Amino acid sequence: MSNQQHREGRQGTDRRGFLAGSAAMAAGAILSQQGSAARGEVRPGQERQLPAAGEFPVKSISSANGREATRIAYDLVMQGKDTLDACVAGVTVVENDPNDTSVGYGGLPNEEGVVELDSAVMHGPSHSCGGVASIRDIKNPAQVARLVMKTTDHVLLVGEGAKRFAIANGFKEENLLTERARKAWLRWKHSLSDNDDWVGELGEEDPALLEAFGGRPTGTIHCASLNANGDISCCTTTSGLAWKIPGRVGDSPIIGAGLYCDNDIGSCGSTGRGEANLKNLCSFAAVELMRNGMSPEQAGLEVLKRVADHTPDRLRDDDGRPNFGLNFYLLSKDGRHAGVTMWGPGRFAVTDADGTRHEESAALYERPRRGGR
Ligand code: GLY
Repeated sequence: MSNQQHREGRQGTDRRGFLAGSAAMAAGAILSQQGSAARGEVRPGQERQLPAAGEFPVKSISSANGREATRIAYDLVMQGKDTLDACVAGVTVVENDPNDTSVGYGGLPNEEGVVELDSAVMHGPSHSCGGVASIRDIKNPAQVARLVMKTTDHVLLVGEGAKRFAIANGFKEENLLTERARKAWLRWKHSLSDNDDWVGELGEEDPALLEAFGGRPTGTIHCASLNANGDISCCTTTSGLAWKIPGRVGDSPIIGAGLYCDNDIGSCGSTGRGEANLKNLCSFAAVELMRNGMSPEQAGLEVLKRVADHTPDRLRDDDGRPNFGLNFYLLSKDGRHAGVTMWGPGRFAVTDADGTRHEESAALYERPRRGGR
């Protein structure tokens, strides 16, 4: 098989791959049905009335900062574009936005003042994925992640290797640290100790940043899209935890954590404290819970409960609850969607036939979070 054929086989509609996948799925479904029947539960898929091909409800969802991304993704899907290409086009706008300090250009840097980005993509129809982690000087990591998926036999490239791969593919090397992010980083440096050499006044502060940076920001964008044929794809992209130790990789580029998609079931992706998600592989778990009959909201709240149960004491508030934020965005193949959040109120973005809007996330806990990050 030539390299070209190999690539097309992995990304295109590969009939042998489809049949093999269907056989494996059928075997999995039988095992799963035996287990659930024994527990007296609804069998996987039993109540799912799926529309005919061409009649699935087209929809894009994202984290709250991706309202425009969902509109772009939705429009592209309606024009017949691939669902992953639509998601990547949507998040690219946010990656390029210097005012979004959680993603791409303008993202908050690591503890040394260097912006390091993480991203991954997952394409439902071919069940393929790709990611980059800790990549520097490249503004659009989601596009690089898609290239890892499309043009290599690998899933994840990191650090210097990821950057060289991007440059080899024509991406421009550029400084991603905006003046706004640099000043925020410098302010953080000054705040660390009264017993070091960072002294003196910093001058005027950006009030919006001061308000936003009460804790350790972990902003990110996740975007998922469903087309009329029932195909689903998703991607997640981030500058990760602000002021992180260089080389720290969060949940965003890790398949099963920062995102997961099964074209027969649905998708899930995350924003928030990556370490908590990584210890529970929540996106994979949520899709499996949907496979077993849970609604997107039930599945999202269930994985948040698992995170809460597994939270170490040092990250709990006085009432024993997690003192950090974590959010999931879920889209099921039949077109249902949900956002869930550890601490409400929270919201997420949706575009579908009813228009572009923010909706309220379902919250595991309803009060302002205290302390922590
Ligand atoms: N969820 C983004 C991060 O923790 O890096």
